[in-house]
Amino acid sequence: MGRQLHVIGNWKMNHDVQSCTDFWSELDGEDMPTTVAAGIAAPAPLLSDSLHKCPFSTKIYGQNCHQALSGAYTGETSAALLQSLGCAGVVLGHSERRQYFNESDALIHDKINTATSQNLQAVYCCGESLEQRKAGEHKSFVRSQIENSLFGLEPAQLQQLIIAYEPIWAIGTGETASAAQAEEMCAEIRQIMASKFGQGAADDLIILYGGSVKPSNAHEIFSQENVDGGLVGGASLKAESFVTLLRIAEELMSA
Ligand code: PGA
Repeated sequence: MGRQLHVIGNWKMNHDVQSCTDFWSELDGEDMPTTVAAGIAAPAPLLSDSLHKCPFSTKIYGQNCHQALSGAYTGETSAALLQSLGCAGVVLGHSERRQYFNESDALIHDKINTATSQNLQAVYCCGESLEQRKAGEHKSFVRSQIENSLFGLEPAQLQQLIIAYEPIWAIGTGETASAAQAEEMCAEIRQIMASKFGQGAADDLIILYGGSVKPSNAHEIFSQENVDGGLVGGASLKAESFVTLLRIAEELMSA
């Protein structure tokens, strides 16, 4: 199908000026894969530094933006600012934002609109809790998240959209969804998007898996037909494991 594999690191609220500098200098000597789309979502105060120090082939993402373009919103970051810095996109709707900052599907929809209006890619996260998975509600829950956050988009906005399926029970827990579970849900999400936007648009969509992706499981997960790479938290903090993930994706791209 020819979709490009993506490996996007999400540093969350980790790293400081020194460790960020160390990360990028460790990457400096690496021969960065050109066939894989590499990205890092850095904390807002480290975006500028990261943009200056990252290899040319690595895109930098924000971890959140406000739904308004500007204004009196102390402590918030605007999509316009991310764009003017040189960021490629922004992660939106991460389960930690939904859980700790009460972000609703409707709010995330508004944020996607604002981000794409500023020519940013929106890396939209969705995924169920352990209770929902155990109750067999994972498909219907993710469908409702997508209906409420994405179905109101214009078809053209899909070109700026990446979806990351991140089951909450697999985030930061060391417990990874099996490759079969990741494939099942990424395929399901593609079908949900096809039902609204058409099969062609859905076939072009980049759909990532996220949740305890690491060098030891990435090959199996990234090789699934409907999984176009990963959104990676813990394993993206060290340059060495981030590069290893890129190499795994590169090898799969050339297979
Ligand atoms: P994890 O985080 O890889 O540390 O599980 C993934 C994410 O939250 O994006």
